[in-house]
Amino acid sequence: MENKEEDKKVDDIIPDVVKETQAWKAVFGDLIFGEFRPLSPFNSLMRGIAKLMQLTPYNMSVGGKRIILYTFCLGGLSVFFFSLLACTGAFLMIYYNPDVNAAYANIEDMRYIVPFGVLIRNMHRWTAHLMVLFVALHMLRVYLTAAYKPPRELNWVVGVILLVMTMLASFTGYLLPWDQLAYWGVTIGTSMGANAPVLGAKGPFAILPPGGDVNSVLLGGTSVGQPTLLRFYLLHAIAIPLGIAGLMGFHFWRIRRAGGVSGPL
Ligand code: HEM
Repeated sequence: MENKEEDKKVDDIIPDVVKETQAWKAVFGDLIFGEFRPLSPFNSLMRGIAKLMQLTPYNMSVGGKRIILYTFCLGGLSVFFFSLLACTGAFLMIYYNPDVNAAYANIEDMRYIVPFGVLIRNMHRWTAHLMVLFVALHMLRVYLTAAYKPPRELNWVVGVILLVMTMLASFTGYLLPWDQLAYWGVTIGTSMGANAPVLGAKGPFAILPPGGDVNSVLLGGTSVGQPTLLRFYLLHAIAIPLGIAGLMGFHFWRIRRAGGVSGPL
């Protein structure tokens, strides 16, 4: 009861013109205001755990089977690939040192000396390619089934950020072997940053000086070197995976809030 009155007070502050906009409804529609109180993340989690532990009966319905053929489980497979990348990446971290004098030799050791090193490394590399492919296919499926329409438009936007982060994870990982391919690939990739509009020093409408634009921040200097390797390593092994995991949680919660996956039911 108290909560409802609190909500009402907050609700009154926001003008109706704003609340009527599609953007407002997409972001806050069923989240905060209105009669329809959402299941809290905690309740969703408890329900999930109860299902997992078979505390509630679980039957595969005809609808469930149809959903698999409708989504091809492309999103679920992307989650699977992400988990596999996290596990194999954790093993690679044991032998890899982000130091320009050691990185290449570490990779060679993994190929020729470390037991199962070549298997784990190749699993990591191939799974990374597969994840990019499957996230793109999942996006195509969502588009073709028009699942981006209300009430799922916010989840589409979250998905686009997930796609960009997946590609950034791939790009930052590319430098780590510290071979010629990695060095020149990343030199080309980061120099695109220098030509980006507004934030790149050589791009149109540049507002930042050559030493302080987006390219220099990525490189940690003016060319690919030790600071670049360390930055890419931290982005690749910590910041981007944490960001992806957090956003995935939000993505799944939004699916539940939309009443589950849209489908041919
Ligand atoms: C790391 C990347 C991603 C993961 C792990 C992921 C995961 C999932 C999962 C497990 C589902 C449930 C249905 C299914 O499996 O198809 C789903 C649904 C959905 N995803 Fe993603 N997704 C990702 C990226 C994207 C992208 C790039 C977009 C679009 C730009 C997107 C938009 C959506 C939407 C709108 C739904 C709801 C679909 C419906 O209700 O039919 N996701 N996602």
